[in-house]
Amino acid sequence: MSILKVSQMGHPVLRQVAGPVDPSLIASEEFLRLVRDMAETMVAYQGAGLAGPQVHVSNRILVYQGVDEDGAPGIQTLVNPVIKPETDERVTDWEGCLSIPGILGQVPRYARILVTALDDEGEELEYVAEDFEARVIQHEVDHLDGILYFDRMEDRTSLTYTTEHKLYGPSEEDEDLED
Ligand code: NI
Repeated sequence: MSILKVSQMGHPVLRQVAGPVDPSLIASEEFLRLVRDMAETMVAYQGAGLAGPQVHVSNRILVYQGVDEDGAPGIQTLVNPVIKPETDERVTDWEGCLSIPGILGQVPRYARILVTALDDEGEELEYVAEDFEARVIQHEVDHLDGILYFDRMEDRTSLTYTTEHKLYGPSEEDEDLED
């Protein structure tokens, strides 16, 4: 296993639309190594999620810190994910990005989404994700489309360095702003 180099904002791979993963490759040694390395990289940098383009792989794959059916924490892999809002409600909350280190901003996201994807064994997944999990998946799927969270912000005045965030935020009125 290895910790991979994380692409930083400005690298063209973060602005490309990633190509689909060929499902016949999912069982391959190379693919499984990529999934393991992405998971290890996400954990090493304390990320909530990580998408292929963030490790210079322009393919539609992401990992995130999820929970299994019993509520136990576990890393979820999504291959060729498709998401659809299950509600019009959007919630605005803090996000950061390993490709834009040291900065946080408030981003509106759908509160509930339907996720369709393959897992790391090529099994079909379909489930509803809510709240923080839904936020992480929307952020990571955006990476697959060359979109960064800055692009989703409707009000950039919340942008802050993490050092200042610790000093001055979040205030009560910042929490779970309804959009
Ligand atoms: Ni990100």
